[in-house]
Amino acid sequence: MDKEYKSHYYSHVVRIAFFLVIGGVLAVVARGLFLPDTMGQYGHYRGSNIEEQKNVEVRNHTNESCYECHRPIRLIHKAGVHQTVSCEFCHGPYADHIQDGKYVEKLPVKRDMEIKALCLRCHNKVIRARPEDSIKMVAMPQHLEEKKVQTDHNCNQCHMVHDPLLWIKAAREMMGLPMKEDKK
Ligand code: HEC
Ligand code: HEC
Ligand code: HEC
Ligand code: HEC
Repeated sequence: MDKEYKSHYYSHVVRIAFFLVIGGVLAVVARGLFLPDTMGQYGHYRGSNIEEQKNVEVRNHTNESCYECHRPIRLIHKAGVHQTVSCEFCHGPYADHIQDGKYVEKLPVKRDMEIKALCLRCHNKVIRARPEDSIKMVAMPQHLEEKKVQTDHNCNQCHMVHDPLLWIKAAREMMGLPMKEDKK
């Protein structure tokens, strides 16, 4: 073939190749600089992360760990309708209270109308997504009106917070009235 068919204008190819090579070299250097040392030690992740996760403080515990020190509440709570409800939901995490098995600081206790707000976080009928057969719901203020009390009554005036049916059961027993579930 004739020579004339060969293009002499190939400098653009050289330029592209030059930048590709520079780019490649920069990428290799950057990878070396920024990739954590333990990357790929066990798999496609940072090996030292395992050690870090092992050392994350466990902030939440079970009710059993609270019962160890709070014996009187244990007797009530474990026997009542709230036995499946976590102490920490109402009082906050174990780690704020106990460290290395020792008492460090009080956990908050809700008082007065804060208690009503707390109860209604789980028992308010307006939370429609929650199935009635898993948690009993009440509508406010109807619940209080049905019980023939002022609507500013607080939940813990009738319901013991750690076993909400304890007093009601006792009152019904005293007056010889059947419990709701007995009627079914
Ligand atoms: C190692 C023992 C211990 C464990 C475990 C423990 N507590 Fe306590 N708790 C205490 C002590 C001691 C006090 C302070 C009592 C006081 O001041 O009268 C206290 C106080 C409290 C208070 C505040 C009482 C008040 O009158 O202000 C709450 C609420 C509480 N604990 C809840 C919990 C919960 C919930 C758990 C489990 C997550 C728990 N405790 C686990 C020892 C313990
Ligand atoms: C449904 C929410 C709820 C749950 C669950 C709950 N508590 Fe309470 N707790 C309260 C409220 C509200 C008070 C304040 C009672 C009052 O003033 O009538 C309280 C009071 C206390 C007190 C202080 C007693 C006082 O009146 O000063 C301690 C200690 C305590 N709770 C520990 C526990 C432990 C331990 C558990 C788990 C076994 C637990 N609580 C579960 C809501 C709850
Ligand atoms: C974290 C969610 C939660 C909170 C907060 C809570 N409860 Fe409950 N409650 C439950 C669960 C779960 C049950 C057991 C299922 C049931 O019986 O509805 C229950 C049961 C009850 C029952 C018995 C219902 C029945 O007839 O079987 C009453 C009454 C009650 N709670 C009142 C209260 C009061 C009063 C408060 C506030 C001090 C409160 N609850 C806070 C979850 C909660
Ligand atoms: C004047 C007393 C009184 C007050 C105040 C009160 N209750 Fe009740 N509550 C009752 C009685 C009585 C029952 C029926 C219990 C039974 O027969 O088993 C009941 C039942 C319930 C039930 C179970 C409903 C069902 O369908 O079985 C829940 C949940 C409840 N109350 C939550 C609350 C909450 C939350 C508050 C505060 C906002 C509150 N109660 C305030 C007396 C009261």
